[in-house]
Amino acid sequence: MLCIRGLLKESNRIMDPQNLILKRRDLPHFVAPVIHALSEIVQGSRLRVFLVGGFVRDLLLGGSLRDMDVVTEGNSGDLARQLAGKVDGKVHSHGEFETYAVFLAEGTRIDIAMARRESYLTPAALPQVEPGTMEQDLQRRDFTINAIAIEVQRGGLGDFMDPYQGEKDLRSKKIQALHEKSFVEDPTRIFRALRYQYRFGFSLESKTAQWMEQSIQQRIPALLSGKRLFTELKKMAEEKDPLPLFKALEQWKLFSFFDSSIRFGKDETKALRRLKEALKWAPSEFEASLTFLLLILSRLSEKKISAQCREWSLPRRWEKAVLQSKEATKVARSLNRPRLKPSQVYRILAPYELEPLLLFDAQGERRASQWIQQFICELRKTQIHTTGEELKRLGIPPGPSYKKILGTLRDLTLDGKMSSPVDEEAYLKGLL
Ligand code: CTP
Repeated sequence: MLCIRGLLKESNRIMDPQNLILKRRDLPHFVAPVIHALSEIVQGSRLRVFLVGGFVRDLLLGGSLRDMDVVTEGNSGDLARQLAGKVDGKVHSHGEFETYAVFLAEGTRIDIAMARRESYLTPAALPQVEPGTMEQDLQRRDFTINAIAIEVQRGGLGDFMDPYQGEKDLRSKKIQALHEKSFVEDPTRIFRALRYQYRFGFSLESKTAQWMEQSIQQRIPALLSGKRLFTELKKMAEEKDPLPLFKALEQWKLFSFFDSSIRFGKDETKALRRLKEALKWAPSEFEASLTFLLLILSRLSEKKISAQCREWSLPRRWEKAVLQSKEATKVARSLNRPRLKPSQVYRILAPYELEPLLLFDAQGERRASQWIQQFICELRKTQIHTTGEELKRLGIPPGPSYKKILGTLRDLTLDGKMSSPVDEEAYLKGLL
């Protein structure tokens, strides 16, 4: 992800999208070739193609540019295949209404969809979709700041489409829904509004805030499937700083749609601050978003965890981590014993996934925290030289004794009683 300087900061109006791209010196590498390829495709055909939504918003804001959203009024499958051919990408079909993704070699994803109009038959249900014009495609969107597009034309970029004054709202830092029924038709937009609010430091336009409030009072988010609800919570946990978002979920009484036992109060705020600190020294193999989620999900009863994890379609590792995250008190008690040896700490902590360990660290007293940090950074990486093969070579019959012998060698190494292959060999000879 690269940062670009936003057009909004440097001029008063967006006049010339062509310039918008050309002026950016630090655009991610994929942007220019993809626009070039799209403009070649458009040339000589009657296809209308647009860059749209969050990509255009972030381009104007000067924010990080990740994946690109492209909409065409023509055949999106054809466009995806032609683009992939030109930029050496791979096409994936989503199996949904003519939606494709082109993956570039470095992993960037270009989403390609057919312009559509949507109608919502019942609140919170997925909409009925039909082919439409670009105007109708913008009309179905969540907020003015996302209902914007730039047409790709021969030679580069063309007209900027902004039927709901999204540019003005970007400038005045406002999140504004397009119409009164927006949060009834699609209550995931409540979560999206909060995400944008804190990500960009924007405020909610007053009518929009009222419409959100009404949707919550009418319990419309309860009509969402568990999976859709959880996806929104997960996206919040993936934001750079989920703390204000979790506080907002508490304030807007949105946790009740997940489970009535979930709270985000003073203790959770303190623990999340400590988690953020811990993530600064923790190795990159930690999934930060999972760590943040554990803080919330550990409030669920054990019985509920398995049922919910199934409903939310969480991977098994996540379910295991959530269940383990409930064992903070037990772990703290074990680690607070005096005169613990590193090998004992290893045996206490080794069964846990990494993320619950970080949660225990954030919730624990000093002594427990120190052991957890030492385990994460050092003890768990302890290697011994002897292998099962080596034991076989020495004539020890294969069986459960191997685990015991190798475990003892690791304990002795952890406690500083041996440090080399020679030490291990001497120990093993003593067994024969
Ligand atoms: N969109 C919408 N209503 C939703 C979800 C998406 O109108 N419930 C539209 C918005 O125009 C949005 C676009 O679809 O810009 C793409 O959706 P998504 O990738 O989720 O949003 P981004 O704006 O790219 O947000 P983010 O930066 O969080 O990825």
